[in-house]
Amino acid sequence: MQSLVTPHEAALILARGDLVALPTETVYGLAARADQPQAVARMYAAKGRPANHPVIVHVESADAIESYVVNPPQYALTLAKTFWPGPMTLVLNRSELIGDFITGGQDTVGLRVPNHPLFLATLTELARLTGVNDIGLAAPSANRFGRVSPTTAAHVIEEFADVLGDEDGVLDGGATHVGVESTIIDCTGDVPHILRSGAITVDDVERVTGLTVATKLSVTRAPGTLASHYAPNARVIIATESAAAPECAQLLTHGDRVGLLALARVATPPNVVRLADPGTATEYAAALYAALREADALDLTVVVAVPPAGNDGLEPAILDRLTRAAHQ
Ligand code: TXA
Ligand code: MG
Repeated sequence: MQSLVTPHEAALILARGDLVALPTETVYGLAARADQPQAVARMYAAKGRPANHPVIVHVESADAIESYVVNPPQYALTLAKTFWPGPMTLVLNRSELIGDFITGGQDTVGLRVPNHPLFLATLTELARLTGVNDIGLAAPSANRFGRVSPTTAAHVIEEFADVLGDEDGVLDGGATHVGVESTIIDCTGDVPHILRSGAITVDDVERVTGLTVATKLSVTRAPGTLASHYAPNARVIIATESAAAPECAQLLTHGDRVGLLALARVATPPNVVRLADPGTATEYAAALYAALREADALDLTVVVAVPPAGNDGLEPAILDRLTRAAHQ
């Protein structure tokens, strides 16, 4: 079993090529040195992730663009300067310092500066221990491939108890703030393309770049863009606010054990388990993955989810993740 570690211990473990699950502001990541093919291979094996799916490289600051990227467009530098550290991943043309084992053979790399003091402290310490400038950590969400992303250290341990060893570690940073994965923006074209929605919105990107953003969700070879993903064992059904109660009643008559995930203003029907009652879309996103895990822990057969309406915050990201979780 992996043990709970400090940033200093995490850096020692990572420096020698073992794995540490680290908190970010979005979800927990399972980190390996991005310059060590064997460490990255072990991380892929632990996740059960296909080798042709690229992984995000997490770095300490936007300065790392100089090491790992060739010809970044001006708008990408503007985005990096504005939103890093933060819940945003930029896909850029990679330099020769980024190996094929990171990118699944693609000629781009996904870079992100996470906004979490413990993650950043680990990177600082790792750079000091290894002497490698701009050292990066390859880190996908710390869940088995296709499953719900972890937002607490306990979730990570649940996912990996049998796969990680004594040599590996988990850094406990409490529950993550954002709760859904970073916005991924492809910056290899004339304008930014949003590949995965997250806390940095289309409006945010258009406002700071002055460009019209293309939204092309589901086009790259990205596991988060597979139709079915983020899925609990329970079936997920998406309902409108007014359809939630009749839907629950119908399911109960069929013998289902039903959970409800909705904003607090939506009442809980009789005999239904309330999985979360967030007041806002921001709170909804933060509670989403823990609620889906709770449904499985309670052995529910169905989750009825009412996504919050709206477009200017985390609503599109919530709808995206629920839609993938609902895909059979
Ligand atoms: O918030 C996050 O982004 C979390 C935390 C740990 O940073 N990480 C995360 O990683 O969600 P992962 O591996 O679960 O999802 C990363 C997504 C995948 O869909 C992957 O295919 C895509 O990013 N990606 C990575 N590099 C890419 C590239 N060069 N081109 C296109 N997509 C890429
Ligand atoms: Mg993931």
